Amino acid sequence: MLILLFGAPGVGKGTQAELLKDRKGFIHLSTGDAFRKAIKEQTEVGKLAKSYMDRGELVPDSVVIQVVDEALGAFKTSQKILLDGYPRTVEQAKALEKVATQRGMAIQTVLNFSVPETELMRRMLARGRADDTREIIENRMKVYAEKTQPLLEFYTERGKLMNIDGSREVETVFKDVCGHLGA
Ligand code: AP5
Repeated sequence: MLILLFGAPGVGKGTQAELLKDRKGFIHLSTGDAFRKAIKEQTEVGKLAKSYMDRGELVPDSVVIQVVDEALGAFKTSQKILLDGYPRTVEQAKALEKVATQRGMAIQTVLNFSVPETELMRRMLARGRADDTREIIENRMKVYAEKTQPLLEFYTERGKLMNIDGSREVETVFKDVCGHLGA
């Protein structure tokens, strides 16, 4: 079973995914984390991903789609898998539908987190990851609006979208998430 964690940079996708993993036994697959690991290990994928992440651009679809296909192959259809930060383009969403059908994995729901932009900027500047400079964050937000936000319509049409107010305290958001997932 697949659960998609969706929303702008800094909305709390990774934070909620880690809580679901630790407390409720979900599997957490984050494409951002996968690329940061590849960068650390200096693999070919890591070198390529870095050149995009350093600018706040998306890693090309063909690369991301392959990384996720391979990762999903390691799990059973009965497991509860959180996809954090994937898909991020319509092409990735279509590829996910295809691979999910091939593997007999259903997309249960898409949790769409929202937080005001000023708060997102504050959170990320406070965190200070390599791609958390003001300039890169602004580009990540722009790329999100242009390439990722159109997916809201894609999943609304499929009746999968659940909206969550991510601006509340972490534990309050978590209770809401668990309520939506029946976890
Ligand atoms: P990725 O790592 O996915 O980054 P992102 O989407 O920009 O998301 P973040 O990790 O910044 O935010 P989050 O929503 O997970 O929030 P978090 O819980 O960390 O992607 C990075 C890059 O990789 C992309 O720019 C792209 O280049 C590439 N990439 C990844 N996936 C790709 C794909 N599918 N296609 C192409 N390229 C891809 O929280 C943020 C901060 O806020 C933390 O400090 C946290 O402690 C804090 N916080 C969380 N919740 C709360 C709360 N409720 N209240 C207060 N603080 C909170």
